[in-house]
Amino acid sequence: MQARNDAPACSLCGHAIPAAPFAREEDRFCCEACFLKQREQHDLQAERDRAYLALAEALVAALDAREQETGLHSQRVACHTQVLARRFTRDPQLLRQIYWGALLHDIGKVGIPDAVLLKQGPLTEDEWAVMRTHPEIGHRILVSASFMAEAAEIVLCHEERFDGTGYPRGLSGEAIPLATRLFAVIDTLDAMTSDRPYRKGLSFDAAKEEILHLAGTQFDPLAVEAFGAEEKTLREMVAMKCGMAPITMAAG
Ligand SMILES: [Fe+2]
Repeated sequence: MQARNDAPACSLCGHAIPAAPFAREEDRFCCEACFLKQREQHDLQAERDRAYLALAEALVAALDAREQETGLHSQRVACHTQVLARRFTRDPQLLRQIYWGALLHDIGKVGIPDAVLLKQGPLTEDEWAVMRTHPEIGHRILVSASFMAEAAEIVLCHEERFDGTGYPRGLSGEAIPLATRLFAVIDTLDAMTSDRPYRKGLSFDAAKEEILHLAGTQFDPLAVEAFGAEEKTLREMVAMKCGMAPITMAAG
């Protein structure tokens, strides 16, 4: 239906807006019915996102229970990866996928037998072969959920290395998703600065030195550059050792 000449047209349905425009955004008018419909869709999306996040956190909790971990590593790397990812995209849908992918990166370990996963001491070659299946197991767990498709790809690639020496497929360079290349830097930062039963966590500066040293081999120089640009923020976050609320949820 065409708008009357003397009344503004709804930018969504094209109907004439009889009274003052109900909503206006960037010089686009919208009628009340379309405004309410959009708000309802936004609320539904927000509700879905909350449910997906709760599901993802439940999966991480299941893995933590098996690994007898306290569980903050996954939350921290998910949030810290966002700091780098937001330098490259502001798309809330993509940022959500990156958050979930980083949060669930090791979820495939739920499929690794206790004798390997919980073994004290070094693994044998055969045990390493079993352990190295965890990215593919994680991908299989997530890929059937359509809303996790991009996150599943991050999970599949999270043990790949920029120089092609990683696994499971030995991908290199830009064949590895950018989000995963960013995650790799953050995962190392968190691992090095966290306490282990056998050693105290290293300083941020020690981790930084190692990350810079591995630019171009283990890590994408672009990801290391982003790390350098966000050093102040990351240094503060690492000092707090907290996961903070997911940035993606606020962005959406
Ligand atoms: Fe892993």
